Amino acid sequence: MNALTRDFVNLVNTAEENQTAKEQTSGAQFREKLHLMPPVGWLNDPNGLCQMDGVFHAFFQYSPFNAEGGVKMWGHYTSTNLIDWEYKGVSLYPDQPFDCHGVYSGSAFLEDGTMYLYYTGNVKLEDGDFDYINTGREANTVLVTTKDGIHFGSKKELLRNSDYPSDLTCHVRDPKVWKKDDTYYMIQGARTKNDVGQALIFESSDKINWHFHSRIESEKPFGYMWECPDYFETDGIKILSSSVQGLEGKEWADRNVYQSGYFLVDGDILDSYKLSPYHLWDYGFDYYAPQSFEAEDGRRIHISWMGMPDCEEYTNPTTKDGWQHCFTFPREVFIKDGKVCQKPVHELDAKKQQLQDVQNELTQSGCPVYEVNVDGIKENHFQAVLSDELILNYENGRFQMHFTTKSKTSVSAGRSLRYAEVGTLENVKILADTSSVEVFVNDGEFVFSTRYYPNDYKIVVHSPSAHITFDKIQ
Ligand code: FRU
Repeated sequence: MNALTRDFVNLVNTAEENQTAKEQTSGAQFREKLHLMPPVGWLNDPNGLCQMDGVFHAFFQYSPFNAEGGVKMWGHYTSTNLIDWEYKGVSLYPDQPFDCHGVYSGSAFLEDGTMYLYYTGNVKLEDGDFDYINTGREANTVLVTTKDGIHFGSKKELLRNSDYPSDLTCHVRDPKVWKKDDTYYMIQGARTKNDVGQALIFESSDKINWHFHSRIESEKPFGYMWECPDYFETDGIKILSSSVQGLEGKEWADRNVYQSGYFLVDGDILDSYKLSPYHLWDYGFDYYAPQSFEAEDGRRIHISWMGMPDCEEYTNPTTKDGWQHCFTFPREVFIKDGKVCQKPVHELDAKKQQLQDVQNELTQSGCPVYEVNVDGIKENHFQAVLSDELILNYENGRFQMHFTTKSKTSVSAGRSLRYAEVGTLENVKILADTSSVEVFVNDGEFVFSTRYYPNDYKIVVHSPSAHITFDKIQ
């Protein structure tokens, strides 16, 4: 541990202890019960997600000194059931010349009892314009290994700007690694000097020496930057996921500032392939930079930052309480009738206690953490109202998530409307936590996630002839 690391350790400990003390005296109104949050300060992307020897690891982009962001390090949670998480402290500090302005996003690759963590070491150069040109920022690809997720070897810089194709800006980042036959492949997000977003693939025979292999682009330019790319197969379907910046125009006008979605890959991503149109992972207000991993039982689990960068339409009210943002609840990605769907992991079932099982209409109040399931919907309309101000409704093929009040001090904290064309509505699942709601439509073919900030908890559901259950979770 160098002197800088020691300083970080002390400063982070103090910030976390002060926050705990503050919350013990003045409470923590919007702290979630099921969803991972930063102990103090800011959280963004999930990093290094994996399950090793039965233990789930969720690292996260963490800025403990300021609830509005700042220099990034990796915080760390572990769990054996994806529900009860233990905070393990900061694992990776920005303490080397090649990552001194941020231990940016990355992923875990497991082999032979070792966790290989690959990430981007961010360095902002004083004389450059770090947003646009190749000289303003170093985007170093770094490896660090651990056998237990707690004790780490020394960081090793693997790739630097000069190893990336020369038509790229300095925006290259967020490595994710997989193995095929005897070769390792790494995907990274990139932005070209012509402002085209794409993914890069590197290959290696030893996980340490990497060479550029190819680039993945859509047929027509699609956004200017692809962040946090992920490539995986599930139930025989090949999925290329990416968080895309720079999508503008009609189709994107009523959506979030940046998108997170996926292309289905037809063919071989390493050779000749065709990408499908882009599908959004989530249609709500708060969703960015998801990452997936394969659990030991073979499930493909997906966790996202339930937040949005550069989002000017709203001020998260938790900022004044010293923290901001959380993750989505872990979701299983599965294929139904050829479509990519998501559902909360089944571990949640153990926490549920059914309070109501009714037809047509449900009203329940006073319980902040719950799941509502509406099944067998036959009509052409549906409505659920949460805490009087968040309306979920369906009519003529369109499903909407709508806040009735847009004021910054309301339940919405400033947001208004999101929607998706879902076709025929069959079922709806609502998973609510103290300050978040995730809605799964038609077995999770469409999902809407949002933060919300109610002062009391109430849900009213109208769905003529449907079967409605209410499960208390906490
Ligand atoms: C996505 C992202 C990544 C980057 C990280 C920095 O939200 O911008 O591309 O590695 O966040 O915190």
